[in-house]
Amino acid sequence: MSRTTGNVIKNEFYPTPAKVVDALLETMTFRPNDVFLEPCRGEGAIYNRIPLPGNQKCWAELSEGVDYLKTPFNNIDVIITNPPFSLATEFLEKAKRELAEDGTMIFLLRLNFLGSKKRCEFWETFGTPPHIKVITPRPSFAKINNSASDTCEYGWFIWDNGNRVAHAELPITHLCTPTQCTKKEAA
Ligand SMILES: C[S@@+](CC[C@H](N)C(=O)[O-])C[C@H]1O[C@@H](n2cnc3c(N)ncnc32)[C@H](O)[C@@H]1O
Repeated sequence: MSRTTGNVIKNEFYPTPAKVVDALLETMTFRPNDVFLEPCRGEGAIYNRIPLPGNQKCWAELSEGVDYLKTPFNNIDVIITNPPFSLATEFLEKAKRELAEDGTMIFLLRLNFLGSKKRCEFWETFGTPPHIKVITPRPSFAKINNSASDTCEYGWFIWDNGNRVAHAELPITHLCTPTQCTKKEAA
């Protein structure tokens, strides 16, 4: 992934690795009538794995002519995404506005998204995530167009008003993805 190298690819299309999505979904319990939204579904790395019927899944995707920031959604129960980095705060604000009262919102973000000086004010107003699942080992995103891989740590940033996510009462847990970790999740 080249988000830190300056070699940003078109529309910031960096698909989420399947194992990173699966590890999150293993910690989640959807309700039978939940309506799900992927605001920028790309090729469906997250969207296609959501265990709900197709008529309960909504999406947007710029490359398919649906700009999330210009498309209204309402009262969504579960939002999970890996947003375009340059629009992450705009995506967070819109998702929060359109989330159901007992909804669950989950964003894949770099951990240093919390720390940058320019975002202090944003987090103060928006509210920091009550729960973060730190992804271990650091995920490697597909290299596209020979762009360099970055060296950032990532986590699922979680606002779980609907109690759909295991261990969300803790501030931080680790989500171990297969191959290098034997323990699935450790507090
Ligand atoms: C980091 S990629 C992630 C794709 C997908 N969410 C995943 O997890 O594999 C970001 C995606 O956001 C899309 N995108 C960028 N700006 C957008 C916008 N304003 N509305 C909807 N999608 C957008 C890009 O085309 C790209 O597919």
